[in-house]
This record gives sequence, C-alpha cells and structure tokens, in this order.
Amino acid sequence: MHVLTFGSTGLIGRYILVELLKHGYHVTVGCIRNRERLLSMLATHNYDHSLLSIVEGNVLDKEDVERSFASCSSFDAVISTIGEKPDCIGKVQSHGARLLFDAFKKFVKNVDCYFVLFAGSPILDVCEDANGLSKLFLHSKVLPDLWRPSGDEYLRVFDMVCSDYKEITWCLVCPPMVADKAADGVYEVARNVHPPSPG
Ligand SMILES: NC(=O)c1ccc[n+]([C@@H]2O[C@H](COP(=O)([O-])OP(=O)(O)OC[C@H]3O[C@@H](n4cnc5c(N)ncnc54)[C@H](OP(=O)(O)O)[C@@H]3O)[C@@H](O)[C@H]2O)c1
Repeated sequence: MHVLTFGSTGLIGRYILVELLKHGYHVTVGCIRNRERLLSMLATHNYDHSLLSIVEGNVLDKEDVERSFASCSSFDAVISTIGEKPDCIGKVQSHGARLLFDAFKKFVKNVDCYFVLFAGSPILDVCEDANGLSKLFLHSKVLPDLWRPSGDEYLRVFDMVCSDYKEITWCLVCPPMVADKAADGVYEVARNVHPPSPG
C-alpha cells in the first residue's frame, strides 16, 4: 500500500504519518515546506526509512502539488490534513483542496484510490430547524465565534467536492477539537451528524 499525504508536519498529520509508517505502509509526504522539521519530528520514532519519500513544496503551488502526485506511478490513498490556525484563516484549505483534487483527477489512475481530507465539526448537522430541515453546527449559536471562519472554509471545500469532483471517492473527516495528547476515553464516530451535545 502506498499513501500520499499532505500536512504531515501538523498536529493531526504527524500522528497519521507515524501510524502509517509503523504499520509498514509506503508513504510519500507531499508539499513539505520544512523538510528538517519533518525529519526531526520523526527522529524519535522507529520506522523503516526506506518506506518514506519526501517531496518538498507548497500546497498553494500547482506545480508542487502535481510533482507530489507524479512522484509515484500509483497511490492507494491520499490523505490531506492541510490547515491553518483558527485565528488566521485565509484560503489555504479551499484553494489547496482545489489544487489537490485537480491533481488527483489528472494523475490518479487507480480507481480504488480514496481521498481523505480533514475538515471540522462546524459542517456537521446538529439538529433540525422549525421546518424539519437539518441545521449545521456552523449555523447554530453554540459554535464559538473563533471557529466560524474555519467553518466557512470547510463548507467551501464541502460544496466544491460535492459539485466538481463527483468521480472521485472522497471522505471529509470532521473532528471536534483535537488535543495533543495520548488517546483516552471513549470516542464516538458518526456519519454526517455531530455527535450529541455539541460544544
Ligand atoms: N487540531 C484540531 O483541533 C482540529 C479540529 C478540527 C479540525 N481540524 C482540521 O484538521 C486539519 C489538520 O489540523 P491540524 O491541527 O493538524 O493543523 P496544523 O497543526 O495547523 O497543521 C497544518 C498542516 O498544514 C500544512 N500547511 C499549511 N499551509 C501549507 C502550505 N501552503 N503548503 C504546505 N503545507 C501547508 C502545515 O505545514 P507547516 O508545518 O509547513 O506549517 C501543517 O503540516 C485542518 O484542516 C484543521 O482545520 C483540526
């Protein structure tokens, strides 16, 4: 299995990368801005170094994205955890996702290849409004204001993939706040809806 990842120096991406390497997957890490940071992050982990390939670049640069996809003849999955901090949201997520999806369409010939992207809980349904229509967490009053710009970005990505990339098998993972600590407790996973008691 060969997986192409983006955003692997980030909080979530680095856990995914380490798990993939630990389980013996070949991983190409695409559009890395700081190679040294990635390598020092991995320095404390035991893994077969021959499993890892690095393509440097920026996810907002079409050529860099295409170089990442073209670096191997076939991938089995693509995982993107590209993102920005909630207090400085621009267009990295939606613009980056557009370039990633275009490159996926152009380069990925394996019809079973899956595209997994990280978004966030604001675009999950939390309840129904008075007309019985589903209401997004993004449009509810309980969502903290700090999360609204990221929520708008996630929604742009969701609308874009639904309308423009129907031929690609994709999944948007929408976690709530992710803490940088070892897993504990019980985790609830749901499809399309926010687990009970948001916020
Ligand atoms: N953490 C949470 O609590 C949480 C909750 C819900 C959803 N999410 C979503 O999950 C995703 C990952 O979150 P995270 O917390 O892991 O984010 P993060 O720690 O900020 O990591 C973001 C990653 O994206 C990369 N990146 C940003 N701009 C880039 C660019 N122009 N070119 C190449 N790489 C770029 C960063 O690379 P550099 O190292 O080079 O900066 C980093 O690897 C995001 O979409 C986020 O919105 C996170």
